[in-house]
Amino acid sequence: MRRVTAVRYAAALREGGSLPGLMEGDDLGTWVVKFRGAGQGQGALVAEVVVGELARALGLPVPEIVVVDVDPRLGRTEPDQEVQDLLRASAGANLGLDYLPGSITYDPLAFTVAPELAARVLWLDALTLNVDRSWRNPNLLVWGGGLWLIDHGAALYPHHDWASADGSVARTLPGVADHVLLPAAAARPDAFARADVELAGQVEAALLTAVLDRVPADWLAVPPERYVRWLLARVEARATWRDAVITALGSADEVRQTGQAGQTRQAGQAGQAGRTGRAGQTGRPEWLRAGDWLRTGGTRPRGRGDA
Ligand SMILES: Nc1ncnc2c1ncn2[C@@H]1O[C@H](COP(=O)(O)OP(=O)(O)O)[C@@H](O)[C@H]1O
Ligand SMILES: [Mg+2]
Repeated sequence: MRRVTAVRYAAALREGGSLPGLMEGDDLGTWVVKFRGAGQGQGALVAEVVVGELARALGLPVPEIVVVDVDPRLGRTEPDQEVQDLLRASAGANLGLDYLPGSITYDPLAFTVAPELAARVLWLDALTLNVDRSWRNPNLLVWGGGLWLIDHGAALYPHHDWASADGSVARTLPGVADHVLLPAAAARPDAFARADVELAGQVEAALLTAVLDRVPADWLAVPPERYVRWLLARVEARATWRDAVITALGSADEVRQTGQAGQTRQAGQAGQAGRTGRAGQTGRPEWLRAGDWLRTGGTRPRGRGDA
């Protein structure tokens, strides 16, 4: 991974639970920095790199990820004691995500995601047990006319206890019914089955080894092969977690078609699915559909340093 040296602590990003900071780099870039000394620990940074780079390798849009070298003295003029403590606990290598200026949090009512893209994100999250993409907390940004994936720190959560990790190779994604892209993916149920075949064929040992190679060695508590082995075992055992997603897609599609929903949230999702679903898209020209640049390989908005 590219290494950047932080030259200034600019602001705290208070929405997030992990207190990421906005820092200026010596490359003149602005980086969202996830600190090694934050409560989530180093494992969260490993998950950010592994899942972020895996997503990128699978063609999903993720801002550039770098290592940001932090000198704790950068915090000495920071009035907030919590920030000072965080920087003090985070000397050295931290994780940086390219800051997307002016981006907004994905809102299903305001932005249409193509079912194919929704299905691929859903598949990635189910594979990596990313429990942090709910309608409450989407961790998806809209920027440059497209969707961007952020915040994978909560994924791969079995890696916090490797001793019991083998018991999780077939585990279904907790809270899949609340996944923010479920209604968008449900608009075309066959898209998920296609994503499953396409993506499972790509997640092989060589690709995973290359992804793990990007993680700074001193962040890893176990040899990188342990991650490769666990992810390969999940691909192998995917019938279980895949079918759980397909069941959830079926329920979401039913809500969408019948408009029947007991809860306010489901009613909201039904409305959203109506907009993002087949009915909402038939009258739209192909080129107007958000996210289509991904599928067609057309021009996509490029982030700075986007390789
Ligand atoms: N690359 C980015 N560009 C712009 N804003 C970002 C970026 N990454 C994070 N943010 C903003 O910061 C918030 C917190 O970041 P996130 O990675 O979700 O951290 P947390 O683990 O604390 O939830 C996000 O919800 C988003 O609003
Ligand atoms: Mg977040």
